[in-house]
Amino acid sequence: MHARQISKGIDIIATVHWERRLFDSLIPLPDGTSYNAYLVRGTEATALVDSTDPVLRDDLMEQLQDVDQIDYIVSQHSEQDHSGCITELLERYPQATLVCSKKAEDILITHLQVSAKRVRVVEDGESISLGDKTLQFIYTPWVHWPETMCTYVPENKCLFSCDFFGSHLATTDVFVTDQAKVYEAAKRYYAEIMMPFRQIIRKNLEKIEECPFDIIAPSHGPVYDDPGFILDAHRDWVSPNMKNEVVLPYISMHGSTERMVKHLIDALAREGITVHAYDLSVTDIGKLAISLVDAATLIVGTPTVQVGPHPAVYYTAHLANMLRPKLKYAAIIGSYGWGSKAIEQISGLIPNLNVEVLGTLLHKGAPTSETYAELDDLAAAVAKAHRDDELIVT
Ligand code: FEO
Repeated sequence: MHARQISKGIDIIATVHWERRLFDSLIPLPDGTSYNAYLVRGTEATALVDSTDPVLRDDLMEQLQDVDQIDYIVSQHSEQDHSGCITELLERYPQATLVCSKKAEDILITHLQVSAKRVRVVEDGESISLGDKTLQFIYTPWVHWPETMCTYVPENKCLFSCDFFGSHLATTDVFVTDQAKVYEAAKRYYAEIMMPFRQIIRKNLEKIEECPFDIIAPSHGPVYDDPGFILDAHRDWVSPNMKNEVVLPYISMHGSTERMVKHLIDALAREGITVHAYDLSVTDIGKLAISLVDAATLIVGTPTVQVGPHPAVYYTAHLANMLRPKLKYAAIIGSYGWGSKAIEQISGLIPNLNVEVLGTLLHKGAPTSETYAELDDLAAAVAKAHRDDELIVT
């Protein structure tokens, strides 16, 4: 890739990871990703905002080969996909100062073995002048580490936001060309790493909106030159509002649980509820995370394996507990052969979910007409709860 201008005196140095399919050995990346650094040239000094993942260091260095002087390297976030080439950049530009937040200093020194002498800590609200451009630093903790900050250039009305508003998309586009595609990728990213911190992210949103920016330049995915839609999306995701939706992760071994799940899906749909069902033996866990952003109810379907839930359900319950979605209601359904502690064990896995349990139904053997009637009752109970919360418009 080559450097491209996003605003007068500001270039994006995008390194595109087309083939990456997993982040943190956990998060699926169906569309790859990109790591964006930004070169800001002032009349007196030049700054580079963030770097790239070490795996793409050659691409970054190639795009900087004609840049003889960098005075400031700004690390907005210490995770290695953005900070991973800072050590080499400090060697390449020996006069450069590494600029970071107070909390980032220790993380960068520890992770990258950066010399403390090269580091300048900036406070929340502090500025550095580059001559005709200014870097204003805005602490935005927990998007998604405690040390994260944004950088605002008022002369260009440009906000560098690192992971905040990021989307995992491998693309040659500099600016957003397909809002729906970016919305989906950004929601996936928000769900997987930021959802647990939405209370503080709400405050961060209010804080950055004090800056009259026209451009949001994240460190993953394309740049927003019309950022209204992504701001509205984040306002919605972090709001307390829930939708008339059920997320239903399930797995089945010999078909009993699957038959119960399929019946329940139909019963919920008859009640006017949108159901997002995921067979955990094949699902993309990122899609499940996206659904958890808005849903009011989680229903887990599991067979019994060695007295407890299926291991895939263990994993999913732990993940949901970790992501702390809004969720107000839950239920557990499933089957067993001779005995089961699945309900107790799943309940113990989700202490962070402040949910009201609307029903539990474990059936011995294949489901019967009585089982299906109980599932109809469960669907009615979910619908009533959603209706009482005015999630259903009738
Ligand atoms: Fe894109 Fe938290 O790193």
